[in-house]
Amino acid sequence: MTFPLPPNSIIGLVGGGQLGRMSALAAARLGYRCHILTREADSPAAQVAHGVTISDYADPASLRAFAEQVDVISFEFENVSAEGLDLLASIKPVRPSPGVLRTSQDRVVEKQFLNDAGVPTTAWAMVSTREELADAARRIGLPAVLKTTRYGYDGKGQARLMTPDDLSPAFARLSPKPLILEGFVDFAAEISVIVARGSDGALAAFDTVENRHRDHVLDLTFAPARVSDDVVGQSQAIAHRIATALDVVGLLAVEMFVDAQGRVLANEIAPRPHNSGHWSIEACPASQFEMHIRAIAGLPLPAATRHADAVMRNLVGPEDMALWPEILTTPGLIPHLYGKAEARPRRKMGHVTRLFPKGALPGEHGIAAVLGKLAR
Ligand SMILES: Nc1ncnc2c1ncn2[C@@H]1O[C@H](COP(=O)(O)OP(=O)(O)OP(=O)(O)O)[C@@H](O)[C@H]1O
Ligand SMILES: [Mg+2]
Repeated sequence: MTFPLPPNSIIGLVGGGQLGRMSALAAARLGYRCHILTREADSPAAQVAHGVTISDYADPASLRAFAEQVDVISFEFENVSAEGLDLLASIKPVRPSPGVLRTSQDRVVEKQFLNDAGVPTTAWAMVSTREELADAARRIGLPAVLKTTRYGYDGKGQARLMTPDDLSPAFARLSPKPLILEGFVDFAAEISVIVARGSDGALAAFDTVENRHRDHVLDLTFAPARVSDDVVGQSQAIAHRIATALDVVGLLAVEMFVDAQGRVLANEIAPRPHNSGHWSIEACPASQFEMHIRAIAGLPLPAATRHADAVMRNLVGPEDMALWPEILTTPGLIPHLYGKAEARPRRKMGHVTRLFPKGALPGEHGIAAVLGKLAR
């Protein structure tokens, strides 16, 4: 395959969730078709795609059949085995590369990579036995957060350790999976930067945004982040540094903490579109999803400019879905639903975006007022 991909080429996307759905919609506008590899029938991405392969991500015959039907392969879901990634890469170009995915799949590999690249993180230690946990807790101090090194999302596979009495129950719950202990960051804010990188090394980074979680699930994103110029500078520099050190072709999201001293620490990275970038669909000429498709297709990357300020509010679980009729009649709310059949608790069902003139993002009360029943 030659890049840039010509119009009507087929982009293979691994993963059938909402990130794949919004990537496929962006791809369609650019004249591409998407073929989705997913475990579930009727997935959010497959509903809007050209083709679908329904299979386990580990089945070599399905991976091969999927790869043979597409021109380039990318991801909205990163947890494909190393062997599966190598198999895909032996058949078609994989963007970002299997090496990038391997780094982001494992919190220990990821943290080591970040520190080696000169990017600050909280103190951390690999933990495989109860004794190692005691040692690590002594060294790092409490409070701390114990996490599984793999397959975590939306705060799953984590335990907060406040006192020495918390170590045993947390270890019992999360082991025998490989674990990492992280020093707890008493953060002033959580922020993120999404950056696109082309195969020529060109970078296009969206503005730094601020994220608020609720019950460990992203709740609100404010674009731009209401932080100092110094924090913006640190966060942008970190995102650029990581994208370049990883040699990523595609999109990279970097989640960061701002600590009490105004220092920015990297939390985790995701080499794909990210929930904290959904506001870009309406607030930017080229959204994160368009940037993702452009980068993997080898199209030129425009600057990641923003023409509006924005607030994004996730719609999570049955409680938020009950508000859907009101959302549709609240002036200014731009509604998105992902096509999931069942609204289970903590499940991301959709989101809304509210735009403001650039530079006019209101304060807490103003945002609450425009969100109506969705206000926190
Ligand atoms: N070391 C830490 N100190 C303080 N808070 C933390 C720490 N690690 C995680 N958290 C909190 O838990 C949230 C989820 O953690 P993290 O991003 O590591 O896991 P995840 O399961 O991959 O979540 P997600 O899918 O939401 O990104 C963070 O956004 C933050 O609010
Ligand atoms: Mg996270």
